[in-house]
Amino acid sequence: MDAKSMRVPLGRLPPAPRRLGLALGLGLALLEPAAAEERRAASACRDIQTIFLPRNKPPKDPLGLLARRGFSLEDYFIGQSIGKGCSGAVYEAAAPAEPPGDGGRGPKRKEGAGGASEAQGAAEAEGWKEGFPLAIKMMWNISAGSTSEGILTTMSQELVPASGRALSGEFGAVARPRGGLCGKKWLKPHPNVIQVIRAFTSQVPLLPGATVDYPDVLPSSLSPSGIGHSRTLFLVMKNYPCTLRQFLSEGRPDPCVGALMILQLLEGVDHLVRQGVAHRDLKSDNILVEFDPAGCPGLVITDFGCCLADQRLGLKLPFPSWYVDRGGNTCLMAPEVATAVPGPGVVIDYSKADVWAVGALAYEILGPGNPFYGQGGPALDSRSYREEELPPLPAPAAPEVKELVGRLLRRNPAKRPSARVAANVLHLSLWGEAAVGRPGLPLPQLVAWLLRQSAAALMTERLGGGRGVVSGLKRGFLAGLDYEELCEAAALLCCWRGAACPAPQ
Ligand SMILES: Nc1ncnc2c1ncn2[C@@H]1O[C@H](COP(=O)(O)OP(=O)(O)O)[C@@H](O)[C@H]1O
Ligand SMILES: [Mg+2]
Repeated sequence: MDAKSMRVPLGRLPPAPRRLGLALGLGLALLEPAAAEERRAASACRDIQTIFLPRNKPPKDPLGLLARRGFSLEDYFIGQSIGKGCSGAVYEAAAPAEPPGDGGRGPKRKEGAGGASEAQGAAEAEGWKEGFPLAIKMMWNISAGSTSEGILTTMSQELVPASGRALSGEFGAVARPRGGLCGKKWLKPHPNVIQVIRAFTSQVPLLPGATVDYPDVLPSSLSPSGIGHSRTLFLVMKNYPCTLRQFLSEGRPDPCVGALMILQLLEGVDHLVRQGVAHRDLKSDNILVEFDPAGCPGLVITDFGCCLADQRLGLKLPFPSWYVDRGGNTCLMAPEVATAVPGPGVVIDYSKADVWAVGALAYEILGPGNPFYGQGGPALDSRSYREEELPPLPAPAAPEVKELVGRLLRRNPAKRPSARVAANVLHLSLWGEAAVGRPGLPLPQLVAWLLRQSAAALMTERLGGGRGVVSGLKRGFLAGLDYEELCEAAALLCCWRGAACPAPQ
């Protein structure tokens, strides 16, 4: 067989026994060139990955916070409330600008200042960073006691996306306690996952709107009806312009931008899964949006308060009784989680749970709304819906994106693609050129496409255009290239574009 006519192998999983079966059937001699071609393609993927891995490192301190500052509430100027959920209130904030001869003292925090612009004006007048580039989440503390240790233990899930030095204020010279905090994993930074850049405990202050918005969770010294403790946890992050829910309330993005947004959620979830973390509360309020210089929305997953990030258990949670917490957001709980019945030896596998939620969110992004909230039709229940009941996605969405969303919402997790494969499908579909993923794509063509993508990414970076959402996605794709996962995605696309589908595994 001519090596040039080699095809992307369909039905790639499980590769070894399948290949063995094929080899026996067709004869080893026939498969030899195919194997050599596959080896070459796999090695090209590895080489490309090696080149792009170091180029894909997020900046260490993107907000320019001074290395030894920001570990106490007094280091911040706090403005107006920007959000509130079930576990805390979030405020805009600023940190001191590089203090000329300041000697590390830094200005004092202003509490309860008037309007945002008044506060901002005062901040700038005192030499603080322009505007409010930061957001501070003040956790509500009803049950964690008032010691730092108790607070950090009880709220440890919120710290899963904390950066290496975020907790130095609490732990002194030790950037992160070895082995994680309270048996929890730490996430490496990723462009589609929030980064908590500082975390510390402090006395609860009276912030703007507190006595009106959340009087009951304040300590009794600040509010007569308050049952909160006097000390709590503060998390400092970048301040994002809006949540995904707010963004979508302004109108639906065009289908191509919508696909880019879904892709970013898949990349974020893939990053979590690879590190053995399940978010378990993905919804549009827990996704933040910013905009690149071209106006393209960049998405980050936030609010890890319900996550599963156990160093010992990984993504497999024992479920012996109903007392075990299965995570937040029951409407967007994947079928295998929502239908689990507790008992001895029962384990819930979360490895495909978040990716299912991305499928549901895709309906919010592309329209007509989330079927599991009853938007645009009767509400489906994730415990009992039939796949045929999923409403059609609107016509402008690309057929491959629609296919993919349908697959993400498969009830059986074994039939759902992983976040990585799903992301690869979108990468190939968005910029894989018409040829990639067509029936009978020759492997050399796939490799040639990867090389063109690599060259373009390097040139874009060199010309200083690498800061946009699309460039970042392409760079991340090349830095994480895995041949098997790429072929699995190409096989799915081949199948949807009309080639014979791989036999069911
Ligand atoms: N970094 C941020 N930048 C801008 N707004 C934020 C940020 N973090 C949170 N918010 C806003 O605050 C709300 C509550 O934050 P979240 O972390 O989800 O808290 P909770 O755990 O209480 O749900 C979010 O839905 C969003 O509106
Ligand atoms: Mg939230």
